[in-house]
Amino acid sequence: MITWGCQMNVYDSGRMADVLAPLGYTPTATPDDADMIILNTCHIRDKAAEKVFSELGRLRVVQEARKAEGHRTILAVAGCVAQAEGAEILARAPFVDIVLGPQTYHRLPEMVARATRAAGAVIETDFPTEDKFDHLPNAAAPQGLTAFLTIQEGCDKFCSFCVVPYTRGAETSRSEATVIAEARRLVAQGSREITLLGQNVNAWHGLDENGQPSTLGQLARKLAGIEGLERIRYTTSHPRDMDDDLIAAHGDLPALMPFLHLPVQSGSDRMLAAMNRKHTAAEYLHLVERLRAARPDLALSSDFIVGHPGETEADFEATLDLIRTVKYASAFSFKYSPRPGTPAAGLPPIADDIADRRLQTLQALLRDQTTEFNDSKSGQTVDVLFTHVGRQPGQIGGRTPWLQPVHVLGPESLIGQIVPVHIAQARPSSLYGTLLEERACA
Ligand code: 5AD
Ligand code: SF4
Repeated sequence: MITWGCQMNVYDSGRMADVLAPLGYTPTATPDDADMIILNTCHIRDKAAEKVFSELGRLRVVQEARKAEGHRTILAVAGCVAQAEGAEILARAPFVDIVLGPQTYHRLPEMVARATRAAGAVIETDFPTEDKFDHLPNAAAPQGLTAFLTIQEGCDKFCSFCVVPYTRGAETSRSEATVIAEARRLVAQGSREITLLGQNVNAWHGLDENGQPSTLGQLARKLAGIEGLERIRYTTSHPRDMDDDLIAAHGDLPALMPFLHLPVQSGSDRMLAAMNRKHTAAEYLHLVERLRAARPDLALSSDFIVGHPGETEADFEATLDLIRTVKYASAFSFKYSPRPGTPAAGLPPIADDIADRRLQTLQALLRDQTTEFNDSKSGQTVDVLFTHVGRQPGQIGGRTPWLQPVHVLGPESLIGQIVPVHIAQARPSSLYGTLLEERACA
């Protein structure tokens, strides 16, 4: 299983492994040992999509080499490239056996059976009427101390630049009962932190036990009641779907982590309108104020696109201004990439060198803000959920509530626990600390 793209793909790959386990499939370390190779792909930007075709070229060599030794290798392309470019995949890479869109993973065993029998490729990219979650097995492999849980898929927002409404389809929410049951299973399997996932996660409106649409705020309150679930996160949110109750939940629930990915894309109202974002810069800033009023230690991250068609220097400056006002803890930023079938793809592009320069300027500012945010934790005591053994001897690693990686010298017995750590040193991408008890001994 080779997984690219967002955390939802990581979750989906896990579920594909679950559905294949009863057939006897287990993950392998390298493609050379695999009877079946699944590429779980991303279509969000052109670069991500093109990667699929170069990887397929490499995997064909593996497939041929194994064939020479008498082994069949089933090659499957899943994910958003499969959904968007199924026919093109089969035309450009006829050695692919299965093409399956993100809504059809529950049908994978049947597709494997068909591919084993048939000579031609099996393709499933329709949006099925049944919900894949109702047909995926409950008995999932444990995810470890930190787990993902998809609660929502698809998007109805139709931002001008984005393929998601086309590749993942209309917005759907899993019911409250299914989500809570899965969260309980994850906790019983040892997860201490759960990140709720959705392309537009705060649009979640799964039905509650009375058959009424619930909200993410209500769901967070119910999940916070699960004993052993110490940390709850959710991603990715749309500013328009942050309701009062969800904002209040940030103040009420210590388990709801004070770190929120809230993409704004641009700080210019003209661009936000062109992007069909359905909010202004002022509305976004007001939302950030309300969130910080509810939870003063809340830190934010965002996504930005520079070089969307029509972006002027003044629009770009407005984005820099918004960044200076918000002060982000971290962020992702991208040069606009035209995607076939999206509204913006038909508009005249702006010059590449201008977009490149803007991206560099923006990323330098965001890097400074990340450094500043990490520095602000230096000298403080913060809770760290330890999750793994570190690279250096005697070192263990974990994350702060704000998702910063932390390394300390400490016993492996702390893995799985949330422990206060004194932050001695902040680096741009991680923090170094000491255990409080150790300081007391020194
Ligand atoms: N070009 C560049 N970036 C894009 N994103 C989505 N579509 C595009 C595109 N066509 C970015 C947005 C989104 C993130 C997941 O990817 O910033 O929030
Ligand atoms: Fe894409 Fe997010 Fe806009 Fe939906 S809200 S169209 S997923 S950028």
